[in-house]
Amino acid sequence: MSIITKSEREIAIMRQAGNIVATVLKELKSQIKPGMKTKELDIIAERELKKLGGQSSFKGYRGYPANLCVSVNDEIVHGIPGKRVLQEGDIVSLDFGAVYNGFQGDAAITVGVGKISDKAASLVIAAEGALKQGIATVRVGARLGDVSYAIQQYAEAKGFAVVREYTGHGIGRDMHEDPLIPNYGVPHTGPVLKKGMVLALEPMLNIGGWRTKVDTDNWTVRTADGSLSAHFEHTVAVTDGEAAVLTAV
Ligand code: MF3
Ligand code: CO
Repeated sequence: MSIITKSEREIAIMRQAGNIVATVLKELKSQIKPGMKTKELDIIAERELKKLGGQSSFKGYRGYPANLCVSVNDEIVHGIPGKRVLQEGDIVSLDFGAVYNGFQGDAAITVGVGKISDKAASLVIAAEGALKQGIATVRVGARLGDVSYAIQQYAEAKGFAVVREYTGHGIGRDMHEDPLIPNYGVPHTGPVLKKGMVLALEPMLNIGGWRTKVDTDNWTVRTADGSLSAHFEHTVAVTDGEAAVLTAV
């Protein structure tokens, strides 16, 4: 495994890519509403991406057919936008990636459609909190297991399960670089973080168990037990101080 460190100049470009991703997600969050087809979200994402001068990270990646992943309720990740109509009370994970000047940005948010249940809301808040805990652990000299452990501890303390079969990842010129970043782990293990490493942290939390299954479309990943799932992701850089969140709005 070799983790590619980026120069400050490269990180500045990645911040621009990240900014495009954040801007598109913000726009999607402002527009999502009951009655909308998930495909409409992909169309908005494509249009906004074009306006901002970025290219899609996802479209064509291993044959993926859209710009955006839209994963509803028990869908965890990699939902393909289509004819599905969003209903009041749904929770929707929006995962988006952009390339700008040769570098990638990758982020995800989970948003509620109209009014959602208290249980769903607590899951969404915990998933965002778990990401925040992970980010707070990213610093020079920390080990990757510390980051994974922080995410897991936070999520499980809130009573939720972390998905084990999908992970975060290093990111740079490629969307997926070393290392794999599980959302569970053992402190004081794994690679030592160095200045210039850029990581996509992406906890996926389920109300029920951690097991997953993949639909016959070969993309959509959902909880094996049908329970709700939420997902948040940021692209973050290791700096001399606190982690720099490159996909912050
Ligand atoms: N954001 C996802 C990830 O981190 C990528 C979506 S997979 C794709 O792995 F096929 F849609 F690109
Ligand atoms: Co990712």
